[in-house]
Amino acid sequence: MTTIKSTNYNIYIGENSIEKLNHFLSKNLYSKYIIICDENSSEHCLPKLLFACEKLQGAEIIELESGEENKTLETCANVWGALTDIGVDRKSLIINLGGGVISDLGGFVASTYKRGINFINIPTTLLSMVDASVGGKTGIDFEGIKNLIGTINTPKAIFINPSFLNTLSQRQIKNGYAEVIKIALIADIKFWQELKKSNLFYSDDIIAKAVELKNNIVKKDLFENDIRKSLNFGHSIGHALESAYIKSGKDILHGEAIAAGMIMESYIAAQHKKITKKEFEEINAKLNSIYPPIKLSKEIQKLIFEFIKYDKKNESNHLCFALPKSIGAYELSCDIKESEIQEAITFYQKK
Ligand SMILES: NC(=O)c1ccc[n+]([C@@H]2O[C@H](COP(=O)([O-])OP(=O)(O)OC[C@H]3O[C@@H](n4cnc5c(N)ncnc54)[C@H](O)[C@@H]3O)[C@@H](O)[C@H]2O)c1
Repeated sequence: MTTIKSTNYNIYIGENSIEKLNHFLSKNLYSKYIIICDENSSEHCLPKLLFACEKLQGAEIIELESGEENKTLETCANVWGALTDIGVDRKSLIINLGGGVISDLGGFVASTYKRGINFINIPTTLLSMVDASVGGKTGIDFEGIKNLIGTINTPKAIFINPSFLNTLSQRQIKNGYAEVIKIALIADIKFWQELKKSNLFYSDDIIAKAVELKNNIVKKDLFENDIRKSLNFGHSIGHALESAYIKSGKDILHGEAIAAGMIMESYIAAQHKKITKKEFEEINAKLNSIYPPIKLSKEIQKLIFEFIKYDKKNESNHLCFALPKSIGAYELSCDIKESEIQEAITFYQKK
């Protein structure tokens, strides 16, 4: 088992993390336990959790409908209402058992209920294990804009048990793996070289490395004033592409859009000579071997440009991208021209 120290809490990774959870629950006295889950984590993960943690057997369960479309204020209002009905006080503990939707929404509900009560995360998707549950960002979507309302508030602990991934679909596994590739490309060349050679999408070690790298960045810059911006590599174009697809009613997962975003942003990084042509070709080959190309119609391309302009990293009307600066490091580039984005899209479409 791996233990990673974060700002003021620990992250436990491995099958034995359940024992650490038992230890945590016996050491900290709470008046009530409330488990927030969705129907899938309820079916596949909750029985195992309750079996292994005697203390949680009398926990209140709040089961939400799965899906990003439920990461809303309305769902929060329902959960706040349920917490009030149950009589949850400031000494209670919220346990977020699920993917990123559950840790984002559950963390936000916990951060705001009675001005904030304790919560822990038990992520059950690869994306939430390596990314969403770590770093203290909580939040919900509002008026169609992703993560518009939220807080930065850290959990009391994170317990990552990779065996929960046994029931996750291959598409959802690949979804999370895109964030593993991202963190390697901006933070650790050795890790990238290992990923390049391997066909494994996850293992205890891969998850632990990805978490360690994200945690190192977050510990230095919790509020995203500086180095935490590096985590947005692939997300300027990728996030715009995801939003464009969602707006057009088309099916896409975050990691699929980010994989396409990483190809296009690496293309731009190569044009700016931040990475070599060879490095770009390696990134392109690895991502192409996993993620099917996404069709960018004229209408989608127009929407991509509209969404890119709203990107939170932009400064005084300049488009800012977090790009790899040779592999394993990053640089914020605020001189990106629309014509360069168009060229990257054209390259991506030719594949
Ligand atoms: N806070 C952050 O720093 C951060 C970072 C990245 C992403 N996010 C957020 O995370 C969310 C995406 O997370 P996600 O990809 O985990 O989505 P998700 O929570 O919607 O989970 C994906 C699907 O997997 C199902 N599922 C969960 N665990 C399962 C299991 N063990 N077996 C079978 N099915 C299971 C869920 O019910 C859901 O249908 C987005 O809302 C995104 O904004 C947040």
